[in-house]
Amino acid sequence: MSMDSDISRFRTDGFLVLEGFVSAGACRDLMDRAAQLIQTFEPGDHPSIFTTHEQRRHTDRYFLDSASNISFFLEEDACDAAGRLVVPRERAVNKIGHAQHDLDPVYGAFSRTGDLGDLARRLGFADPLLLQSMHIFKNPEIGGEVTCHQDSTFLYTEPMTCVGFWFALEDATLENGCLQAIPGGHRAGLKSRFRRNGDDVRFETLDETPWPMEALVPLEVPQGTLIVLDGLLPHFSAANRSDKSRQAYTLHVIERGARYAADNWLQRDPALPLLGFDA
Ligand code: FE2
Repeated sequence: MSMDSDISRFRTDGFLVLEGFVSAGACRDLMDRAAQLIQTFEPGDHPSIFTTHEQRRHTDRYFLDSASNISFFLEEDACDAAGRLVVPRERAVNKIGHAQHDLDPVYGAFSRTGDLGDLARRLGFADPLLLQSMHIFKNPEIGGEVTCHQDSTFLYTEPMTCVGFWFALEDATLENGCLQAIPGGHRAGLKSRFRRNGDDVRFETLDETPWPMEALVPLEVPQGTLIVLDGLLPHFSAANRSDKSRQAYTLHVIERGARYAADNWLQRDPALPLLGFDA
């Protein structure tokens, strides 16, 4: 398939699946690096739980500071009521975020390749900035659901320019909680914003219409696949109750010339300015 038809499909569907975009070796390097970083993390210091169930969205200082560092978020089911880990630390982590693409050389090398910079330009970016990175573990048996959402809810610019690059570091299947998306759902507009006021962050509903969950299509993909997601595309992933992990790495990009909302949760430390693919 030619790149032009890929781009036109992306405009129509709001997502694009590119199998074999990265090598198995690159995927393994990133998973090895994550395992190393997890060994340095002391869960007792920061029992920060990640959940996407709205009423319980975790918005403490540790979360807000993660805009500019490498932070570790735990699964909802990884701790007891007193905050003690009830599963091995390797299984407890939900995700690592949100600035490892700028702070860690292994993540930096994975995130800044010529292929990815070229793709961003073909997608229409004039001057793309790497805003946020997440290593998502979706560990066996404990990996939690991510409720249906649009990434522009969290990473809002005017005009809306957020695009997500979602890399399958391992095979993603319905069994282990692959990505699911609503084809064309990006054309229905933004349903909510996640707005920050000081240290408080909450959802503001813009459109009450419920997601047509029956329209979700599973995106089962092999290791090394890149899925490009329009910031307005509704997507979801189920909990992983299987015995296989489903690690993924995501990178979110915005256009430098767009106005970045001052009330987005993610506000980078001015000492760590956003950079492009050529940095
Ligand atoms: Fe997302």
